[in-house]
Amino acid sequence: MGISLKDKKILVIGRPSGIAGAVTLAVREQGAQVIVAGRDQGKLERAYDSDIAAEKVDVTDDRSIEALADRLGSIDHLVTTASARARGLLQDLDRDALRQSFDTKVIGPVMLAKHFAPRINDGGTFTLFSGVAASKPAIGFLGVAITNGAADFLTRSPERRPWRKAC
Ligand SMILES: NC(=O)c1ccc[n+]([C@@H]2O[C@H](COP(=O)([O-])OP(=O)(O)OC[C@H]3O[C@@H](n4cnc5c(N)ncnc54)[C@H](OP(=O)(O)O)[C@@H]3O)[C@@H](O)[C@H]2O)c1
Repeated sequence: MGISLKDKKILVIGRPSGIAGAVTLAVREQGAQVIVAGRDQGKLERAYDSDIAAEKVDVTDDRSIEALADRLGSIDHLVTTASARARGLLQDLDRDALRQSFDTKVIGPVMLAKHFAPRINDGGTFTLFSGVAASKPAIGFLGVAITNGAADFLTRSPERRPWRKAC
């Protein structure tokens, strides 16, 4: 049995032309109140109809996350698709790209959970994204795989609130 999203307040982080855009439109269709967030608030405002509020957040910046949580107050569900893929062969990988990848897709969700968990209503969820690279090793995808492996592990954490892995 699915959960009803009618009148639920749902925060979706990510690009309008990607999975975040599809999630946003799908949950709005089910009667949810959707707030989209990303680094470029203007881009989000232009991408959606006016019934979808756009907010600014950088998931690698704790103050930005905390400020967003303060602005939104309580929410029902949070979905983050934010990622910064560190693709490439081992010899081409650099520390900054790997750090950015982890910061965006692993530490970012941990900090989102930290700041939003006290604000998520009973029955709420926190959804984050892994990727097939986590379970299918492939040449040129080491950075992507270890990031997604860590994101996978995060979904199994027994900390305070349930995690939900989308892919
Ligand atoms: N698409 C696929 O085929 C596929 C396959 C496997 C897994 N996944 C995973 O599914 C998720 C969604 O994929 P996608 O293809 O829709 O999106 P994507 O191309 O991975 O886009 C990621 C989004 O993250 C945002 N972002 C990057 N750094 C950020 C930051 N510091 N703060 C806030 N937002 C930030 C980007 O925002 P800007 O607009 O600001 O650049 C972009 O909107 C990702 O985690 C991806 O790894 C996707």
